[in-house]
Amino acid sequence: MNVLIFDSNEKLNETGAGIITGLVQTNPRAVLGLATGGTPVGVYEQLVSDFRRGLVSFRQATSFNLDEYVGLPADHPESYHSYMNHHLFRHIDLPAAQAHIPNGNADDLEAECRRYDEMIADAGQIDLQLLGLGHNGHIGFNEPAHALIRGTHIVDLAEETRRANARFFNSVQEVPSQALTMGVGTILKAKMILLIVRGADKAEIVHRALTGPITTDCPASLLQTHPHLVVLLDEEAGRLMR
Ligand code: F6R
Repeated sequence: MNVLIFDSNEKLNETGAGIITGLVQTNPRAVLGLATGGTPVGVYEQLVSDFRRGLVSFRQATSFNLDEYVGLPADHPESYHSYMNHHLFRHIDLPAAQAHIPNGNADDLEAECRRYDEMIADAGQIDLQLLGLGHNGHIGFNEPAHALIRGTHIVDLAEETRRANARFFNSVQEVPSQALTMGVGTILKAKMILLIVRGADKAEIVHRALTGPITTDCPASLLQTHPHLVVLLDEEAGRLMR
């Protein structure tokens, strides 16, 4: 595990984007696992900037997003489809057919989960999986549980997760109660994992996830077993890691 702590968001974003840009430069056909939420926004801005400066092209790359809400129309401003278009996809040259997000509006959600896993398998291994971290230790929407699920599945969002994400909606009631998420098996199979965490409110969970016992009560603790984990933290999130 390689943990880097940054004294500025700018440097953190540049480093995060630099790792992704570097990967796609050396392997233009890279398979990227992407995340949403507040954490990666600055990294995506920097990636867009790298693309506009001609440093990188995503024309041959493929992406798979971690998750999507169930029952939120794809064109809802808070769907992860909208998020990805807004922050990344419409600014770069990644062909739409190569950018995958689970369909939380599929008639048959179980079949959609299987379809998503098959597409990931067909694409080969995910080369780099970008992750944020939930306050309860979730990765993707794999919430703390007695047992974790390997592949893509339907999940009931924890109340804590709905409350945390209520900041993007008018009220917590509007936050969908379910999502489709990649499973931890798929996440851990990625060749490299890039975990980014920001903010004082995540300092304790960062410490617990990276140094505490490996347990399904804290899904991110499983990342300790990954052979190529890079963690980028701002000073606040890294406070207990010094
Ligand atoms: C997002 C995702 C979640 C978030 C996590 C942190 O696709 O899967 O695990 O990374 O909830 O969210 P933010 O970045 O909003 O604090």
